[in-house]
Formats: sequence, C-alpha cells, structure tokens
Amino acid sequence: VAAAAAVSFAFAAPAVASEGCDDGEMVIKFSHVVAATGHPKGDAATMLAERVNKEMDGKACMQVFPNSQLFDDDKVMEALLLGDVQLAAPSLSKFEAYTLKYRLFDLPFLFQDLNAVGNFTDSDAGKGLLDVMQDVGYQGLGYWLSGLKQFSANKPLIEPSDANGLKFRVQTSDVAVAMIEAIGGNAQKLAFKEVYGALQTGVVDGQENTWSNIYTQKFFEVQDGITETNHQVLAYLLVTSTEWLDSLDDETRTQFLTIVDEVTKAGNDAVAKKEAGNREKIIEAGSVVRELTPEQRAKWVEAMKPVWTQFEGDIGKDLIDAAAGSNS
Ligand code: LMR
Repeated sequence: VAAAAAVSFAFAAPAVASEGCDDGEMVIKFSHVVAATGHPKGDAATMLAERVNKEMDGKACMQVFPNSQLFDDDKVMEALLLGDVQLAAPSLSKFEAYTLKYRLFDLPFLFQDLNAVGNFTDSDAGKGLLDVMQDVGYQGLGYWLSGLKQFSANKPLIEPSDANGLKFRVQTSDVAVAMIEAIGGNAQKLAFKEVYGALQTGVVDGQENTWSNIYTQKFFEVQDGITETNHQVLAYLLVTSTEWLDSLDDETRTQFLTIVDEVTKAGNDAVAKKEAGNREKIIEAGSVVRELTPEQRAKWVEAMKPVWTQFEGDIGKDLIDAAAGSNS
C-alpha cells in the first residue's frame, strides 16, 4: 500500500510552479495538455500560478499539471465537475458535448489573424459566449489565444487536392471533420498526446496545428514539411466549474478573477511573438515551411468555405457575421 501511494504521489506531483501548499490554503489545480514552457498556454499557466502563489499566499495555492500528465482534455471536463481540478484550458474545438456555439471558432478562414480573434473575444458577442455553459456547470473565465493553424503531412501540400485520400488527425470537433472532408481527406479524432505516435507510425498521414504545438510536440520530425495555410484559429477557454467559483467568498473571487484577467491579457499579448519564434525554430531544425501564393491559398479557402453554411444553424448567423466583422 505504501509503495502504491508513493507511486501515485509521484505521478500527481505538479511539475511547474509547485511551491508546496501550506495548511489552510485553498488548492487550485490546473491541468493542461501542452508543454510547460515555450508555449502560449504553458507559459500563461505558469504566469497565473506564480501570481496566485505570490499575491494570494496564505489564502490560495495553485499547482499546474502540464503535458496531459494528469488528464487529457476529455477527462478534464469531468474532473472539473468532480472537483479533482479547478482550472483547465481546452481548445474551443473540444466543447461539443456541452455547447455547439463554440463551433464558431473552428470555421475555416474565419479570422485573418490573431488581432481579429482578439477583437471578437473582447466584444460583447465574444464575452457573452463565456457564459453559455453555465447550465451544465461550467464558467468560462477568459479566452487564451494560441495561434493560427498550419497543415502538415507526409508529402507536400500545396493545393487542397494534395490532401485527397490522406488521413488527418483532428481535435474532437465535427467542424474539423467537415473541413478535412471538404478537401477530400479522412479525419480521425485523436487526443493530443497520441498525435506524435500516430504520425510516426502512419496511423495518420497529417495533422493541423499551431507553430507552437508543431514545434514543442516535435510533429515536424515525422512530417514532410509544414504548409503555412493559417486556416483556423486555435484558442482556449480558461474554464472552471460554476460550483467552485460560487464557493469562493466575494473578496477571494474578485482577487482571483482580477489576476486571471491580467494574466489573460499579458499571455495573449505575448502569443504572436512566441508563434513566430517557434516557426523559426522549426525551420532551424531543418524542416521545410511552404508558403502559399495568394492563388494557391484562395483554392484552400474556396474548398473549405462551404463548411460555414453546414454549421450556421448550430452557431447562428448573427454570431458568424459578428466574428467575420472583426477582421477589419
Ligand atoms: C490539440 O488537441 O491539438 C490542441 O487542442 C492541444 C492544445 O491544447 O493546444
């Protein structure tokens, strides 16, 4: 029994920002799936923990569990309701079981850059979407941006027809499945931690993700190259349970949410530079990054655009128009 306890303790020990919690401190566990450092989400989670542990010392203590070491993104949603963790930040593609509204964020070529995403998430329409899962027990605390997604495969992808017949890993998102089918590919939903192995063993031929994920998970090592399509945003919802948030006294809640807002802003402001840096590191590591001409890119847009109408009923045309309007 003692040995088993020691093993499970080692497994659950936070790898980042573990100050060890003092007696009487409320423990806030934050589980996520990406690298602990050098990644927009990993770095923002660390920043949040550092601030909470300093400014709420004696009252609260945050522990961060990166790299899917505690839960993957499916399991973490249950863990929030069970009180096993208090914070998570799954990508907005992974909430289909709880709301269909976030399908908005997966529409291909909706946002032309991260500024447009920020314009939308800061708008009333964007902020309103933080509250849409209250009836199922979740509260969105903020949007953590991560970057635009790029395609890669085990062969060069220049035109959408190059994807014909290839198998692509996608997140647990029906919009992503429709998008892959629109270019003649087969989509396979896989947990993030399984992607490298699936690419390496040929279970799938390709994937789509941000520069930061492609670099920190080393996907480039097992792909022919990366095509700079910028076809979709990857953004996270920093999410907690309504039960936990309601359980905090007013002063603690206000202090915590103020820190969350400030870290959200600082983290989002740092994303573009981090993404550009990780793109460079992929090139330095010897991988090929293929840029598209405007004509080539237009073909990807044309092939994928029908996906918008397919999901308009779930999302609502007003919301799509509001998001598309944030591009200017
Ligand atoms: C993915 O599954 O590809 C991403 O959601 C992982 C992440 O959190 O960036």
